Order: sequence, then structure tokens, then C-alpha cells
Amino acid sequence: MVDQKTTAGTRVPAGQGGVPSLRDRLTRRKPVEKLVAETQAAEGAGLRRHMGFWQLSMIGIGATLGTGIFVVLGEAVPVAGPAVIIAFVLAGITALFSALAYAEMAGMIPASGSAYSYAYATMGEFMAWICGWCLMLTYGVSVAAVGVGWGQYIDELLHLTTGLSMPAELLAGPMEGGLINLPAAIVVLLSMFALLTGVRESSRVNAVMVAIKIAILAMFVLIAVTAVQDGNFAPFMPMGMAGVSAAGATLFFSYIGFDSASTASEEAKNPQRDLPRAIMFSMILVTALYCLVAFTAVGALNWTDFADGETSLAGILTNVTGTPVWAVIFAAGAVLALASVVLVVLYSQTRILFAMSRDGLIPKAFSKVDAKGTPRANTVITSVVIAVLAALIPLGPLADATAIGTLFAFALVNVAVMVLRKRRPDLERAFRMPGAPVTPVLGVLACAYLMVSMDLSVWVAFVAWLVVGLAVYFAYSMRRSALEAEGTVEAGV
Ligand code: ALA
Repeated sequence: MVDQKTTAGTRVPAGQGGVPSLRDRLTRRKPVEKLVAETQAAEGAGLRRHMGFWQLSMIGIGATLGTGIFVVLGEAVPVAGPAVIIAFVLAGITALFSALAYAEMAGMIPASGSAYSYAYATMGEFMAWICGWCLMLTYGVSVAAVGVGWGQYIDELLHLTTGLSMPAELLAGPMEGGLINLPAAIVVLLSMFALLTGVRESSRVNAVMVAIKIAILAMFVLIAVTAVQDGNFAPFMPMGMAGVSAAGATLFFSYIGFDSASTASEEAKNPQRDLPRAIMFSMILVTALYCLVAFTAVGALNWTDFADGETSLAGILTNVTGTPVWAVIFAAGAVLALASVVLVVLYSQTRILFAMSRDGLIPKAFSKVDAKGTPRANTVITSVVIAVLAALIPLGPLADATAIGTLFAFALVNVAVMVLRKRRPDLERAFRMPGAPVTPVLGVLACAYLMVSMDLSVWVAFVAWLVVGLAVYFAYSMRRSALEAEGTVEAGV
């Protein structure tokens, strides 16, 4: 029988015959020190440290401002009415709790596995796996959703500039009566090529695109505010609080992404100092922008005119100004902007898979890097799978699946903060979540509230996804875990 050593130096018994027991396997944890040492080793293994506060912030903002505000806002207005502003605040508060939790964890564990790594250090391998599995919805599925939004703006731009539209069969998958969503698949594959050429170039392009989308959203606010009418805010909450929370759950999608900066921590120069600052900065800027855009959008156009759920911000600009010029500028910017979201979020997904592969939970091919430090096979496989999703599934189900998976993973990050405060009060924290333990508890409750506001169909899809995840864990990951191969079970953190 092999005993396992804890970080505290005490030994815990292994299961019978030298093989860890199921309980040991499910709860084995990766010590924080080990996670940090691995990230430092990653530098030598190929990933280069070159990002500072601004680049990390650009990753966070780049991943966050996207289809949520550009497209999903229009779908949420008929659900909540003018109170969509409150729905944004509700989703924003939920995201803010999690952002604070992320900031504390990222400042302490700068590992590219993000929430997955935090869970591994605190709640053990099984919860880490569940978290990583949910993060595939947060990142992978959301890339597909943003790709679909990109397709809508490409079509709108084409229509505004030439009067032509793309063939309907090539703009939607079979669930919406089409064949495939060609533009959505194309933007994912183009981003794959960008990432394959190296992160340094991609992050520079990303910074330019972030500037563009902030500029066009500011342009939207400045134009739409001239048409705001008091009457458009009454009745303010036509669907009551149920409508507001349902819209809030959907709009949570629009806040996902601030956490992307944490997945770049292994390429950050000073992650302990810069990551918490970058996450908080991205969050505050994005929330302010969303509230301004939502206020001016529903103030300029009566909420009942959003009824078809297809009203885009570009459409509002044409309505307000009576000329398509601003809408063309806006749609062109949105096309660039949404492409940047696809790029950044795709990048994050490859990094999480990288971390899971390094831990042995998914095949090693996902953590092999080429001479330039790019995980090539990982990037290609991930992108092709996401391109297929984007080609076949509509925006609504993709955005909802992203939101529910993310809410679950974010709740776990709040739990991780509490667990680590209790178990390892000694660890140096570059940022401390203010008001803990009350704030992380509120963070979990806020996530749970939005999750229960989601449709039954979303829950069915989510549970099905979890069941597949469990099957993969028990059939493959549990026995291939690097902790298993090392023959050690770290019961401490
Ligand atoms: N927050 C990202 C978006 O809105 C996923 O597109």
C-alpha cells in the first residue's frame, strides 16, 4: 500500500492494493504551489510571457463586448421591455461577484486553466473536471454563438451597402430551415488561422478591434440619445420581474469573457499584479457601456418595436437618423468586433484544454506546442468542432447553453474562494474579494437565481452535457490523470 503525502506533511492512506480508492481519486487536489510551479515551467516549455496590464485588459474586454450587446440585446427587449436595463444590471451584478472571485483566484493561482485550475486546487479533481467541462460551454459554445452573430452582421452589411442578401440556406442551420450557417463557420476557421500564426500578432489585432468596438458603441450612444423619449420607458416593466430575470439570464451571456484574461496568465509578465486589475477594469468598463447602450436603445425605439426579436443596433441607427450611413459604419465595425471576440474566446478555450491535457484528463495532443509556442493540434481540433456547431445550431440555444454552463462554473469559483480562504489563509493574495465570506455566498446565490430563471429546455441540454462529461471522466480521465500516474494523491492544497 502506498501512502500519500499531504502538503502539510501528514500522510493519508491510499486505497486497497496501492490503487487509489474512488474517493481519493475524486477528491485529489493539485496544490497551489504545484499549479504555480507548472505555470513557471510553461515558460520554458514554449508559452512566452509578454502580456502586461493593457494586453490582459484588452483580452478581457475583447472577449466580453460582442454578440451579447450587438445582437442578444435585441432579443431580450421583448422579454423584459424597457426594464432590460435592470436585466443588464442584474446580470452585471452576478458577473461582478464572480469577477471579484476570479480576481482573487487569478491573482493567487495564475494558471491558464482558469476556473478549472482553481477548482482543482480547492475542491479536487472531480469538481475540477465538471468545471472544465462547463467551461467548454463558456468558451467553445460561446465562440459558436458569436460566430452566428457575426454572420447576421455580415448579411446586414451586405444588405445595407448593396441591397443584396445572402441565400437564406447559407445563413442558418437546419433547425432554422436553412442548410448551414456558412459565415459563422468561416469566421471560426479564419480565427483558427490567426491563432496558428502566433498569439503576439493576434493580441495586437485584438487591441485594435477593441478600440473599434468601443468607438462604435460610443457612436451608437451619442446618436441614439438624441432620440430618447420619456414615453418609451412606460410601462417600464411590462412583463414584471419574471421577464426581467428571464432576460437577465439570457443577457448574462453578454458579460462572459472578462475571465478570459485569466486564461492568458501563463503568458502574462506579472500575472499576480496585473490580472486582478485587468479583470476589474474590463468589468467596470463593460458594465457602464452596456447600461448606456441599453438605456439609449430602448429610449430611442419603443420596446414593442423590438417584437420580432431581430432589431439590431444598426437598424436603430437608421431609424433615428433616417440615413443608412451610420448603420453601415456600425455594421462594418460590428463585423470586425465580433471577429475579435471569436478570436479571443477561441484562444481561451485552447488554453483551458491545454491545462486539462497537461493534467492528463484529456489526450496529450492538446498540450503539445510547436516551436513558436502554439498548441497546434489543440487549436485545429477545437476550431473545427466549434465551426461545425456554429454552422448547424441557432444563436438562441447556443447563447443559453453558454450562459447556464458559465453560471455553474462561476458559482464554483465563488465556492473556491471560500474554500481556499479557510484552507490556506497563509497564501499571498494580490487581491482580496471584499466582504468575504458574504460576497462569495451572494455570488453563488446570484448565479443560482439566474440559472433557475432559465427555460426547462436549457436545463435538459445542460444535464445531458453533464452526463456526457461524467461518462468521459469515469471512462477515461480518472485513470489517465497525471496525479494518478505520479502515484500520489495530494489531499492538501
Ligand atoms: N460576452 C460575449 C458576447 O457578448 C460572449 O459575445
